Amino acid sequence: MEQRYDLSGSLLHWYDYNKRILPWRENKDPYRIWISEIMLQQTRVEAVKPYFDRFMEALPTVYDLAKVDEDRLMKLWEGLGYYNRARNLKAAAQTIVEEYGGQLPADYDKLLSLKGIGMYTAGAIGSIAFELQVPAVDGNVLRVLARLWGDDSDILKDKTKKAMGRRIMEFMPEDRPGDFNQALIELGATVCVPNGQPLCDQCPWDTVCKAYKEDLIDQLPVKTPKKARRIERKTVFLLECGEQIAIHKRGDKGLLAGLWEFPNEDKKMDAEDIKEWMAEHYMEDAKTKAAGKGKHIFSHVEWHMEGVRISLKTPIQSENYVWVLKKELENTYALPSAFEIFRKIL
Ligand code: ADE
Repeated sequence: MEQRYDLSGSLLHWYDYNKRILPWRENKDPYRIWISEIMLQQTRVEAVKPYFDRFMEALPTVYDLAKVDEDRLMKLWEGLGYYNRARNLKAAAQTIVEEYGGQLPADYDKLLSLKGIGMYTAGAIGSIAFELQVPAVDGNVLRVLARLWGDDSDILKDKTKKAMGRRIMEFMPEDRPGDFNQALIELGATVCVPNGQPLCDQCPWDTVCKAYKEDLIDQLPVKTPKKARRIERKTVFLLECGEQIAIHKRGDKGLLAGLWEFPNEDKKMDAEDIKEWMAEHYMEDAKTKAAGKGKHIFSHVEWHMEGVRISLKTPIQSENYVWVLKKELENTYALPSAFEIFRKIL
């Protein structure tokens, strides 16, 4: 009991004085908390902030999200990556409107059954928005707890997440579960940091942390190495005709499904290959210029891209692409970050 008071009391005290001022902490609106948690799943806080504000302005309620046009949603999400997160948000919003009268359910299992909401997110929304007594164990929390308890289980395993979730529940204060979970996340994000040396002299748990006391900080947490990413080479064509540019809509399955891209081929092409490609597309007389190289890292794949800029006198039609105005790339068509390097030079 003594230890229970110490751990949660000292953590909450630290949190009260050190928590960051973040847009989704302004109030307890479950919709805002849900959107923020989904955005924060794979993306850093600083990167999320402007997206969050823009999203809330564009789609202030669950009803707006449930009926948003898919292209507009993709445009709002453009640059955040993992676009299925946005599609799942819309699907879940429809369920919330149809089955729960437009209110996020204050129930862990019901939250968990919504599209795109896993154990962590159900725990975060449940505790922060509704003060439910449930754990919310993300990568930040796993790192903190592995160090606190000197636990060398593999934190990438679901079993470890569940075990740590059960164990931390013993310390969750009845009156502030949401703050307790957020404090754990905050400690992991700002003190027990993911990259580089943790700031142990600022930690409220420095006197009880096993890794700190036993000099195990560099060994913990344990993560099994992931498989190396597959490398895919691409040649990206910037076909332009005055103010127009050719773009192609990706298929509705797989990576970046349904988003727009510059026409491209899944291979590195030399000058001869490019000439052949141009002949096949009836543009053998056009001028070409190298348009730089780009690299984009996804979770399991890396794209290594080389751009070719082709200036045409007439916008040659093809079933592989459509012509749009370059400025429409700004606010109409969602072009993923992978292609940003090429868009910039247009
Ligand atoms: N990362 C995930 N959830 C968060 C939250 N609510 N506040 C800050 N960072 C987070």
